[in-house]
Amino acid sequence: MNRNLKLLWLADALSHLGTSLYTLVLTLLALQVSRHAFGAGLVLFVTTLPYLVLGVMGGAVVDRFNRGAVARKGAGEEAACSRHSRLNLRRTGGERMNVLILSGSLRNPSHTRALLDEVATLLHERGCRVHLFDLAETTLPPCDPAYHRRPGDHPDPHVRRLVQLADAADAFVWGTPNYHNSYSGALKNALDHLTMDQFRNKPVGLVANSGGMRSTQPLDHLRIVARGLLAVAIPIQVATCDGDYAQEGGGYRLVDPTVKERLRHFVQQLVVFAERLR
Ligand SMILES: Cc1cc2nc3c(=O)[nH]c(=O)nc-3n(C[C@H](O)[C@H](O)[C@H](O)COP(=O)(O)O)c2cc1C
Repeated sequence: MNRNLKLLWLADALSHLGTSLYTLVLTLLALQVSRHAFGAGLVLFVTTLPYLVLGVMGGAVVDRFNRGAVARKGAGEEAACSRHSRLNLRRTGGERMNVLILSGSLRNPSHTRALLDEVATLLHERGCRVHLFDLAETTLPPCDPAYHRRPGDHPDPHVRRLVQLADAADAFVWGTPNYHNSYSGALKNALDHLTMDQFRNKPVGLVANSGGMRSTQPLDHLRIVARGLLAVAIPIQVATCDGDYAQEGGGYRLVDPTVKERLRHFVQQLVVFAERLR
């Protein structure tokens, strides 16, 4: 059994023991003071009263909401807690997760890049080692099919660096601007420099930014590309539009609270997938 789980289990056992001892002592005290079994019984009954009253009231309150959603939320939070503690265990063991982020916009400043900076921060907070490969900063040559089977031998040092980073990655995030209802050519070119060897059974998180309205079309198309590379595109994806950002210091910053919340779930799911598929 790993150390943190053992500690959690011991703390829980100790807590239950404390509660049981407290109830026992209270009952004995009631017996001593009242000199009657009824007094002790009454104390025991009173200690269970909150469960009876609040349980029924809680049930009535929950019935006003979608019961399935409440149950799922409860189960989800619990599962997230246990997953989170397990992930922290891994990290304390020195196994940090490597995540390679590809930014597919050639604009500077770029909304997509701002979105990916936010993703990088959230991944850092979860203890991941993050590399952000911005295609606006690093110009890659057009894909050369001669190196399709051996991309590590490519003469361009940037391509070789990309291959190295992709080899070392446990998970990926692909970010793209919406170009004519799809992903950018720059991102596709970067992906075409890589092969199934870099992606097989690794999770990929997908995010996209569009101009006027949020659109999932570039993400739908990227899902097909991920499948072609034998990667696993995670179910949660994030689509933004220019209106979700504020201009700040010559750049952009994601400000929409709903998108920011979704981004947290997205990152959590990516880390969970990476942990499971590792
Ligand atoms: C070639 C091209 C095609 C575009 N096509 C679309 C489109 O189909 N739908 C859309 O909402 N925005 C479209 N846009 C707008 C971009 O998605 C928008 O400018 C976005 O902010 C780009 O993100 P970025 O700042 O990360 O580059 C297009 C922009 C370009 C340059």
